[in-house]
Formats: sequence, C-alpha cells, structure tokens
Amino acid sequence: MSRDIQYSREDSNAQPPSLFPEYKSTTLRSPSAPLIRIPQTLTETTGPTGCWDKLMGRALADLTSQHAGVPIGQRIVVSGRVLDENGKAIPDTVMEIWQANAAGRYIHVRDSWDAPIDPNFTGTGRMVTDEQGRYSFTTVRPGAYPWGNHHNAWRPAHIHLSLLGPAFASRLVTQLYFPDDPLIALDPIANSVPMPYRLRLIARFDIESTQPARALGYKFDVVLRGPLATLMER
Ligand SMILES: [Fe+2]
Repeated sequence: MSRDIQYSREDSNAQPPSLFPEYKSTTLRSPSAPLIRIPQTLTETTGPTGCWDKLMGRALADLTSQHAGVPIGQRIVVSGRVLDENGKAIPDTVMEIWQANAAGRYIHVRDSWDAPIDPNFTGTGRMVTDEQGRYSFTTVRPGAYPWGNHHNAWRPAHIHLSLLGPAFASRLVTQLYFPDDPLIALDPIANSVPMPYRLRLIARFDIESTQPARALGYKFDVVLRGPLATLMER
C-alpha cells in the first residue's frame, strides 16, 4: 500500500545535494543512476512504537553520568522541541545522539588520531520527546577533530542527531553545530547545506536554560519538514 501525503515542502534548493565534490566521500557514495521509488508498506510505516526503552534500554539523557567519574569538558544542556511544518509538537520521537569527547575523540576503532579518550565519556545518548515535543540532554561540548578530507581539514564541534518517528523507515539524521565556531565556515559538510538554510543547523546559546554553576544552555528545535525544515543528511 502506498500513500501520497500532501504537505508544504522545503525550498527546492535547501537540501544539501547528494554529490558535493568538496566533501570527497560523496563522489563515491552519491547515486550515479536515477533513484527508484520503492513504496513503503504498512509494516515499514507503523512500528515498532512505544517500546523503545524495552528494546534499547532506558533512555540516556545525561552523558556526563554514565561512568564512575565526571568527564572532562565544558558541561552543556541542549534542549528544544521536535515540530512539524505547522509548528505542531511531535511527541514520542526517539532522538539518538553521538559525539566526540571534549578533546575531539570518538570511542571508535577507526578513530585513532592523537587525542585522548576520556574513560568517563562514551558520547552516546537517547531521549524520547514528551507530549509537547520537548527533549533535553546533558553532555560536554565536543571538540573539533581532523578528518583528512583536505589539507588541514577540521570538523567544527558538532553533535550527531538521529530522529525516529513511528517506524524505522522514518529515520532522519542531521548534525548540530555551535554558534561561536569559526570552523563552520570552512567545513565542506556544513557548507554542503546552502545559506541561509545552514543557519538552521546551529544551536542558539540560551541563558534561560543555562544552569547556575553547572552547565551552559543551548536551544535547538528540529522541524521535520516544510519551508522551515531542519536540513537532513541524505
Ligand atoms: Fe562527527
């Protein structure tokens, strides 16, 4: 069964292209033939739902308390809402995050550059939006890291986000950046999103959600589609 749902779309030139030569790996992994539409069936669009904590363990909204000690780095709280194109809250959205530690290092077998692993920081978390579409997580601000795309290439500080709607087939993935980072302007991944749409990927410093003597606050709303959509990886 296929369903064509009518909704207002984002601007046609807002989404990053699949092929962006400055981001070198897109030359290998972008499609070279026309896309083939595969209609989704009921089982792909309806589940599983309401069972994420049973499937994946309890929600992990504090990345600074997953180990015996406290991770090194600037403690931050990132919060916001997940919204549809009309500003309506989207509850029960599973948001998964992953990031480098404060030194810019991932715990990953293929990350071996000369920056320390933090034994008190794994860099992964998961939340589920509440009835008003709200989410919040506590972490440390990630560091920049080199990535070999070109000479002296450094990724700006960023947090990866994955959002799951009512089914695995509805997964969306993007990256959140920080407002005071000069590396954004030099980064081919960020720059694959044209301006002004790129600005939607930059979190906003927020003194209201900053916690006294504990953590800086950043706000980041995710709009799933429509003219104000948050741009996603493709
Ligand atoms: Fe990354």
